[in-house]
Amino acid sequence: MPKLIVVTRDGEERELMGETGLSVMEVIRDAGIDEILALCGGCCSCATCHVHVDPEFAAKLKPMSEDENDLLDSTSDRDDYSRLSCQIDVTDALDGLKVRIAAED
Ligand code: FES
Repeated sequence: MPKLIVVTRDGEERELMGETGLSVMEVIRDAGIDEILALCGGCCSCATCHVHVDPEFAAKLKPMSEDENDLLDSTSDRDDYSRLSCQIDVTDALDGLKVRIAAED
């Protein structure tokens, strides 16, 4: 199982075991981290699952869709490493992926 490291808004690091087939958002939510609201349930229409991805892993993620890009534009905390966690599939290649939960909008 790939490992996922999640940094919460107050800087706490949590190590989670990801299940392939789930999205990073689902793994974070299932771990009880409620800073990820995921209001749309993963349909890529709310941006409340915004995270900043460790630069080391950014290139390993599949490119973002136009919808994801547009939604991220509507957030106040966007940077070069912003992604919507519901759009990142957990895979073995992402073992050790570190993400930081973005500021609340
Ligand atoms: S959960 Fe709504 S965009 Fe990711």
